[in-house]
Amino acid sequence: MKKRVGVAILGLGVVGGGTYKTLVDHREFYLKTQNVDIVVEAVLDKNRARLQELGVPEECIAGSIAEVVANPAIDIVIETIGGVGIAKEFVMAALKEGKTVVTANKEMISKCSHELERIARRNNCGLYYEASCVGGVPIIRTLLDGVQANHITEMMGIVNGTTNYILTKMTQDGKDYAEALKEAQALGYAEFDPTNDVEGFDSTYKLSILSSMAFHTKVPYTKVHREGISSVSVQDIAIGKEIGYTLKLLAIGKNSENGIEVRVHPTFIPSAHPLAGVSDAYNAVYLRGDALDDIMLYGKGAGAFPTASAVVSDVIYAATHSEIKYSTYKNTATAESKVKFISDFSSAYYIRLSVDDKAGVLAKVSGIFGRNGISIVEIMQKGSSSEDGGRVPLIIITHKTKENSVKNAVAKINASDIGTVEAVIRVEA
Ligand code: HSE
Repeated sequence: MKKRVGVAILGLGVVGGGTYKTLVDHREFYLKTQNVDIVVEAVLDKNRARLQELGVPEECIAGSIAEVVANPAIDIVIETIGGVGIAKEFVMAALKEGKTVVTANKEMISKCSHELERIARRNNCGLYYEASCVGGVPIIRTLLDGVQANHITEMMGIVNGTTNYILTKMTQDGKDYAEALKEAQALGYAEFDPTNDVEGFDSTYKLSILSSMAFHTKVPYTKVHREGISSVSVQDIAIGKEIGYTLKLLAIGKNSENGIEVRVHPTFIPSAHPLAGVSDAYNAVYLRGDALDDIMLYGKGAGAFPTASAVVSDVIYAATHSEIKYSTYKNTATAESKVKFISDFSSAYYIRLSVDDKAGVLAKVSGIFGRNGISIVEIMQKGSSSEDGGRVPLIIITHKTKENSVKNAVAKINASDIGTVEAVIRVEA
């Protein structure tokens, strides 16, 4: 017998609208392929014009969240409002009434999943959030149901399309940051206030969710080391390109016996690495598992329909599985218990200095690195100064070294009369 499942959609923005259209247009298809009749029973949004634009029938327009959660025909509530304020209030109201929630809200899940999941467990309903990370790319389902045979030891992701678009334009067309950002805004990738994307907050929320699932350990977003791309220079991107590196804003998670390290920052990777070929607004996540070795998932990380694809996949999952899947975190009671998070992590580095072009400078620079225990792989002077003692760029690539050693060496150079450190970029192999 075909199962009937009633859903409500809270918020008809880009993702909510895409979800509404997908559910309505594909109703017959899901009936045939999934044996489930998914019916949009209610839509809650104050914007009458948007409701009309999408053709939501009058009888489906809800007046309040109270009306939605009191409706016995609604089994699943889809939250596509975003943010933590009203969205969280509505989600809690739905869970308390035993309605399964499907959400696209990375900030809310990253900040509040413990609290929300506790309510879901108490009320015997589900909380699903495939659409919160990397849009249409089924990374959460893959972590839950595809690679669960493995200890996942590492993940590296390009999880923000806006910054990937900007860095691609800086790399391929030599545009500077401000120009590339303007172009991303004109195309609707970057918002008028681009802070959330360009300063790495969006990637931080996503990394906190994905590493929590991959490492079976709740990783609070506050534990993620975060640096954005707003001070990346096109000069470093061009030098990196010459020496075989591509710059990406990476979300990196590593899980070892020593603990968990999570960081979001601009990173040079070898130009032959599969992630280096992920261009424009595309996203990808690269995973390493002990049985699996390496895999990469690639696709559109944002947009109405790619994200709706993820929302609807959760709705179908919830509608067709009687057993509810909850998180498998070992630190469920409190996010920070029983887990060591590493802050002084190790990495290789690209360091660009501006130094006096005169005898003895290289020896002094390498002396400072040596005294801080940093081993140099390569050192390159870019050009020469026309006047004796004029400034030139000096590029240093280090072996893997501790973050704090690099900080000490940089401080020593900046305090000396040799020159100044202009850029420090981590390098991952
Ligand atoms: N603003 C995000 C991005 C999409 O640029 O990838 C939503 O997570």
